[in-house]
Amino acid sequence: MTSLTLLGIESSCDDTAAAVLRGQAGDAQVLSSIVMGQTALHADFGGVVPEIAARAHAEKLDLCVAQALEAAELSLDDIDAVAVTAGPGLIGGVVSGVMCAKGIALGRGLPLYGVNHLAGHALTPRLTDGVTFPYLMLLVSGGHCQFLIVSGPDQFQRLGGTIDDAPGEAFDKVARLISLPQPGGPAIETRAKAGDSKRFKLPRPLLDRQGCDMSFSGLKTAVLRQRDHLLKDGTLSAQDQADLAAGFQAAVVDVLAEKTRRALAVYAPMTDTPSICVAGGVAANMAIRSALETVAHKFDAAFIAPPLALCTDNAAMIAYAALEQMGTRAPDGMDLSARPRWPL
Ligand code: KG4
Ligand code: ZN
Repeated sequence: MTSLTLLGIESSCDDTAAAVLRGQAGDAQVLSSIVMGQTALHADFGGVVPEIAARAHAEKLDLCVAQALEAAELSLDDIDAVAVTAGPGLIGGVVSGVMCAKGIALGRGLPLYGVNHLAGHALTPRLTDGVTFPYLMLLVSGGHCQFLIVSGPDQFQRLGGTIDDAPGEAFDKVARLISLPQPGGPAIETRAKAGDSKRFKLPRPLLDRQGCDMSFSGLKTAVLRQRDHLLKDGTLSAQDQADLAAGFQAAVVDVLAEKTRRALAVYAPMTDTPSICVAGGVAANMAIRSALETVAHKFDAAFIAPPLALCTDNAAMIAYAALEQMGTRAPDGMDLSARPRWPL
């Protein structure tokens, strides 16, 4: 297979991203990857506001693409195909990205590939670490939480996932509850270091239920109750914050570790060389990482965590997923539409 140069575009949530990738499936290089975040735009609203996100994507996409080409020291003349996230995600953002990609593809006569955002995350370990199929993937971010067995560029078996909040969302909400800054994940991880994880009794939801499904919303409510109890007697001290942060994080760690053990029990017998990969912003958490690594070792599985810049939302993963999939599928036409809901 010959080496191709792809432009990738991602705008499904609150990051406007463009990237240039060169190579072939299993052997590709990221020539550039630009991510323009929108954290400041949404800061006052306690979450991503879809209309604000869509407008910012529409305003920034052209600039983002131009910067990606410039950083790769290439022009559109050098691009062989355009890949874009076509879902799942916030409809306004996805439409902005798809329109931008269609404009470039149409104007330049280039093939266009609409990519599933989750497939982008799920195939990233092939780009960063050359992991061979089949591997187990745990996607844990602000928007996603699921276990997948990845057996091919478009073969994904979902073993389970959250039935309510994603873990990152729970980290962010709990941080807000105990007056820590956003994003909540890093703030809670730092504060938890000074805390006693056993002071408050917090639940491990769905741990007694079979399978790999998870739930984090009840855990968040349990933290809220403990906080309100403390507030009745005065203010929340720094030690209270640290103990709640540590208790919450320990509960998330326990749930993820046990469900990972169950997912590995299903997946590991499928191969002689098992690998478990994690992706998503929550994979930055060292307590979670080391717990998962311990579980992986019990199954003699390799533990792989791609560099954070490629395991949070980015466009290189979208270009790479298209590169993997183009061997087995035709390009999309100009009728490619945005799919806000698009399960793998
Ligand atoms: O993958 P990501 O950048 O964006 C999407 O959700 O798509 O993930 C962001 C999430 C946020 O909820 C953030 O609080 C969480 O990842 N996060 C962490 C840590 N760093 C980021 N959660 C726990 N511990 C961390 N160190
Ligand atoms: Zn994502």
